[in-house]
Amino acid sequence: MLVAQQGKLKVLIRRSAIEKRVREVADEITKDFKGDRVHLIGVLKGACIFLSDLVREINLETSIDFIAVSSYAKGKESSGQVRLLKDLDSSIEGLNVILVEDILDTGLTLSYLLRILQQRKPKVLRVAALLDKPSRRLKQVQGDYVGFTIPNEFVVGYGLDYGERYRNLKDVCILGHPVD
Ligand code: IMP
Ligand code: MG
Repeated sequence: MLVAQQGKLKVLIRRSAIEKRVREVADEITKDFKGDRVHLIGVLKGACIFLSDLVREINLETSIDFIAVSSYAKGKESSGQVRLLKDLDSSIEGLNVILVEDILDTGLTLSYLLRILQQRKPKVLRVAALLDKPSRRLKQVQGDYVGFTIPNEFVVGYGLDYGERYRNLKDVCILGHPVD
């Protein structure tokens, strides 16, 4: 197994716990929007796996779109500047929008995205994040649906990367002292 072979990776959240929590979050969304349509916007690339699992557990009419931003120059530290790399394909005016993020860290990316999406007049704009590291926050933003609150560790897997690697791990793992 890949994880067992890599000494620098330590499992933080097992795939079974992720599956269970994703179902709970989806149930909450299904209940909150009672029969309405929800439009999920995934923040590429980290949220793609969370969104794929989440949308299949939501028992409502759904549509999906993706947006891509870059905030991390490379490595583990945010550059502090957010750039839009790929915009949405379609208008969100009047829609129940749920922005789907992999992780809320400093909050810089989320506060930028909320600002540009709010200008497009959605009916509702909420945030679903698989992970939350509240201790790192620089901007006062929060998720409406949060999978797991985690300590200040750099994590990979289930969509999250380090230099584009590890997105395919089924568990969320702590990446310690990488040697590259
Ligand atoms: P923020 O703008 O600092 O909140 O950063 C958000 C983005 O940084 C996330 O969408 C991730 O792509 C990336 N990020 C933050 N923390 C981690 C981590 O622990 N592992 C992998 N990516 C992270
Ligand atoms: Mg990312």
